[in-house]
Amino acid sequence: IPQSVAKEPGGCCSYRNSEEMARRNVLITGCSSGIGLALAVKMAKDEQKRFKVYATMRNLAKKEPLEEAAGQRLGKTLEIKQLDVCDEQSIKACVNSIPDRRIDVLVSNAGMGLIGPIECQTIEEMKTVMDTNFFGLVRLLKEILPDMKRRKSGHIVIISSVMGIQGILFNDVYAASKFAVEGFCESLAIQALKFKLQLSLIEPGPVVTEFERKVFEDGMKMDLSAADKETAEMFTNIYLKNYKQIFQSLGQSAEDVAEIILAENPPFRHQTNTLYTPMTTLKYADPNGDLPIDIFYKMVFQHDKVFSASLNFIKLLRWRSRKSFDLGKPSQ
Ligand SMILES: NC(=O)c1ccc[n+]([C@@H]2O[C@H](COP(=O)([O-])OP(=O)(O)OC[C@H]3O[C@@H](n4cnc5c(N)ncnc54)[C@H](OP(=O)(O)O)[C@@H]3O)[C@@H](O)[C@H]2O)c1
Repeated sequence: IPQSVAKEPGGCCSYRNSEEMARRNVLITGCSSGIGLALAVKMAKDEQKRFKVYATMRNLAKKEPLEEAAGQRLGKTLEIKQLDVCDEQSIKACVNSIPDRRIDVLVSNAGMGLIGPIECQTIEEMKTVMDTNFFGLVRLLKEILPDMKRRKSGHIVIISSVMGIQGILFNDVYAASKFAVEGFCESLAIQALKFKLQLSLIEPGPVVTEFERKVFEDGMKMDLSAADKETAEMFTNIYLKNYKQIFQSLGQSAEDVAEIILAENPPFRHQTNTLYTPMTTLKYADPNGDLPIDIFYKMVFQHDKVFSASLNFIKLLRWRSRKSFDLGKPSQ
């Protein structure tokens, strides 16, 4: 997207003209936890009060953490609404309940993971991932895009993943769902430009949220009897064994990701985790596609000890830099 359209000064949701000086309506999906919750709260607490946030979740019984985090902004700059991205009626009802159906910023965040050998996953489980991560976005846009086009104004922020650029071991279906999102948005961005709409794909690396916990627990419980011995061992003794360490060493917090989305005006593709960038850069370094596969293979199967030591080293460096940063801060 040309810089003039894609990048506006002053952050991802800055005003385009005086008409938009009014508070901007933001709809975020999947706000019961993680990135959605952190972003909703950050935007609702914006010092310049630029946003009215419609923080949505599929199950309102889970609203307490968001209510607590929103504090006094609840009912003022933040409202909680029900929205299930797998249910068209629920999306319609939510959008219809917003004054003039006006959504200036849509953040498509709801998503789920799935790990493990495909022999041990059912097609139904895989379809649920695609239905949530990919068709969830499509359903939202079918409802919201026509209004944005008519107004010739709107910003669509999609929480994709680094796995929308480069797949990794035992994340086959999850990566496929994020690749689908990326291809869909790449195509749509050309049309969106004609209507002066902005699209931003946010591509986090590992983020320490409920996602990490749920995916790990499901992986631990997985019935591996349909897989051969070698594959089952690979999943248990290599993938699951390193899973926590990867999140501990490279993981960002949901608040960090929210801060980045809000502070920087995201270009079309925006990776939030610089520690992960070398992995995705491999993809662009070799048009034949062999380089990332070769490097990931060697990292996992041949140099696993070096890989593990590197992760520990990064963890130590990050701990030390956080410690010196904390020491520099005045005590509360
Ligand atoms: N954590 C990571 O390492 C990571 C890395 C890259 C990208 N991402 C992406 O970041 C996004 C947010 O994930 P997170 O890390 O913040 O995980 P999270 O804490 O598990 O949040 C996911 C949110 O999506 C919601 N959700 C799931 N299915 C839904 C549906 N059908 N309709 C509406 N909401 C639904 C969940 O609601 P329930 O509480 O009801 O399940 C939850 O609120 C996802 O798209 C994920 O793929 C995460």
